[in-house]
Amino acid sequence: MSIKSLSSNAKKRLSEACFSISILVLLASCHKQKETPPPVSSGLTPYEIKYPFTFPALNIPSDNPLTVEGIALGKALYGDPILSNDGRSCSACHVKSTSFSSFSANAIPHINEGWNTKFLWRGGVEGTLEDAMSFEVNEFFKTDVTKLNANQDYKARFKNVYGVETISRKDVAYALAQYLRSLTSVDSRFDRYVRKESMITMSELNGFYIFNSEKGECFHCHSLGLFADNAYHNNGIDSIFTGNNAGRYDVTKNPNDLGKFKTPTLRNIELTAPYMHDGRYLTLEEVVEHYNSGVKKTATIDPIMTLPSFENGLQLTAQQKSDLVAFLKTLTDTSFVNNPLH
Ligand code: HEC
Ligand code: HEC
Repeated sequence: MSIKSLSSNAKKRLSEACFSISILVLLASCHKQKETPPPVSSGLTPYEIKYPFTFPALNIPSDNPLTVEGIALGKALYGDPILSNDGRSCSACHVKSTSFSSFSANAIPHINEGWNTKFLWRGGVEGTLEDAMSFEVNEFFKTDVTKLNANQDYKARFKNVYGVETISRKDVAYALAQYLRSLTSVDSRFDRYVRKESMITMSELNGFYIFNSEKGECFHCHSLGLFADNAYHNNGIDSIFTGNNAGRYDVTKNPNDLGKFKTPTLRNIELTAPYMHDGRYLTLEEVVEHYNSGVKKTATIDPIMTLPSFENGLQLTAQQKSDLVAFLKTLTDTSFVNNPLH
């Protein structure tokens, strides 16, 4: 049967399928470690991170190479209330089973943070993970290092990893950064599908098509690979920007930044409800309905949200909405939350 004799609907479906397949071939085409990791001191075990080519290069500061010992030390600190002055540990709010987010505090999950350069919803810290962890240790927890220095086990472990006799806040931040950098997710059902190791359903594939085409325009900001773009956008959830909703404006005081937030990754999104910076949506269905019919056009709205598809709302059918949600759920990586090393 020639393409000509197909109904226009069937033709459209065929071209959508071809589109999806060509993207997938591209995504699957190579897998490699890009950077040569910095050398580690003798006696320590280097730890290598593997990631697909759809991820940007991973930059590891040369004074904080990844080691098995350093990551384990960071993990111990992360779970230990010794870092805070009020009995809280990092893991009190960042819960592993919900991909290191929390339902009540709407803490940002830790996935592939090594590629992140903008931290917190409003980008309160920009730079490396080491910078972000310095903020946590110095500003947020105001860690009292005398408690750590009184602990012989920590003293020995820091000496082993960083060669220091006395533990400083910087050493604590560096160990935490190693641990967070090791929390990589590249094994969702979607990743395995791209690697031709497993199947996804027709509905999920249709959802991917909506996500990755002008039908839904999601991919511009939630870019394939990390499913985030390390940038701030106003995605149209508010028409007035007061209180919690002023976004990046709170940091820059620039009116052009009103309502802009960092694009969050969509990896493990099924596990990290509620959604948006203030947790206003409880379900992915509500999020999709926002993009479908609720986008509010304001002076700082992202130009993507004014493209023709958004002119009168995305106008997705009920089936298309559920396809899109089904696709988002293929980004769940159960090996990430069940990994005993994490
Ligand atoms: C009281 C709950 C709580 C505790 C304890 C806590 N966090 Fe958070 N964390 C949050 C919340 C809420 C956010 C988002 C805040 C924002 O963006 O304004 C967040 C954001 C982050 C981010 C930013 C992630 C990103 O991609 O932007 C990192 C990294 C982080 N926390 C690490 C830590 C570490 C490390 C500790 C321990 C030293 C810690 N957190 C302790 C609640 C907590
Ligand atoms: C213009 C950039 C942009 C586009 C296009 C876009 N998003 Fe978003 N998305 C964002 C930003 C920014 C946020 C966070 C906003 C906030 O917290 O207030 C977000 C949040 C989300 C969240 C909640 C994440 C969380 O952790 O709370 C989901 C789910 C989501 N988007 C899915 C989609 C889907 C599906 C599409 C396509 C229909 C889409 N996005 C299109 C920028 C975008």
